[in-house]
Amino acid sequence: MLQRTIGVLTSGGDAPGMNAAIRSVVRAALKKGFRVVGVQRGYNGLIHGEMFEMNMRSVSNIINRGGTILYTARCPEFRELSGVLKAKEVCEKAGICGIVVIGGDGSFRGAADLSAQGIPCVGVPATIDNDISCTEYAIGYDTAMNTAVEMIDKIRDTAESHDRCNVIEVMGRHAGHIAVNTGIACGATTIIIPEIEFNMDEIIDKLRTAHKMGKQHFIVLVAEGIGKVDEIAKHIQEATGIESRSTILGHVQRGGSPSVKDRVTASTMGYYAVNLLEKSIGNRVIGIKNDHVVDYDIQEALSMKKPFEVDLYNIANEISF
Ligand code: ADP
Ligand code: F6P
Repeated sequence: MLQRTIGVLTSGGDAPGMNAAIRSVVRAALKKGFRVVGVQRGYNGLIHGEMFEMNMRSVSNIINRGGTILYTARCPEFRELSGVLKAKEVCEKAGICGIVVIGGDGSFRGAADLSAQGIPCVGVPATIDNDISCTEYAIGYDTAMNTAVEMIDKIRDTAESHDRCNVIEVMGRHAGHIAVNTGIACGATTIIIPEIEFNMDEIIDKLRTAHKMGKQHFIVLVAEGIGKVDEIAKHIQEATGIESRSTILGHVQRGGSPSVKDRVTASTMGYYAVNLLEKSIGNRVIGIKNDHVVDYDIQEALSMKKPFEVDLYNIANEISF
């Protein structure tokens, strides 16, 4: 008879704090008497049986590290029933009675499919975009924003020296959460995000007015979902006469040592995920609601809508002259 085994994997885009979550899952599960296996490269590793046994020391010295020691991947095969069935077979052979899936909405869809095949899975939300509807907070968001702010502050130095407008793209595939929060934190004159319609003429008017009022350098913050920072910078230069440059911050935002908030959130969520699997409860995803840890049925979680921080966007706009 195989000892009850819990698997842990990271899937989708990486996020700082994933390692802290892995550490928490491994240690909490070992403490409860489970055997623990780390599955490498997300569902890809699960389908191909790429896993190794983990002990208390396997997760030493990782709480402070960015990335994921289990690596991550996107696995198109897992979107097909045949892929899920292959994974189920691998789990049964390895005696896996539950899996903690650390990732985003896509990874949770996979977790729901595998749970439906009798392998209970619990999702732990991790993405720098913070666009997972069922949770106020996802692992990695705070660190990514602090990295972005550090970079934008540096760009501000050179923008000021040259009396320029710097148009900066931050990450956020479909979401403007990073842009709005880093925008207000960096004193951006304008924030352009997918959630709120924008009018380029109004943006130009605002820059002109601020220029007339004596403002000499400008930060225009653009969410990745909008993109086109080169075009925007050229347009601003032509329309206002203010010399402009564009920068895409890119993957630098995905790396680095996780912040306190990300380490604490990851440690807490990982622990709760194991508590559910201990009771053989699967098809759940962990979330934060009113600053407390909660869990939801995965389908329910996926159908939720996340309210956008319109108030914050409006405040940023009002105080950015
Ligand atoms: P995230 O988890 O960050 O949202 P992705 O959307 O890239 O990232 O999803 C990660 C992985 O989850 C995919 O590569 C795939 O293996 C699995 N996945 C995504 N969507 C589905 C789906 N609808 N059904 C089953 N598995 C899925
Ligand atoms: O979802 C996180 C994220 O960093 C998005 O902001 C970005 O659009 C995407 O992942 C990029 O993913 P990758 O370069 O890994 O394909």
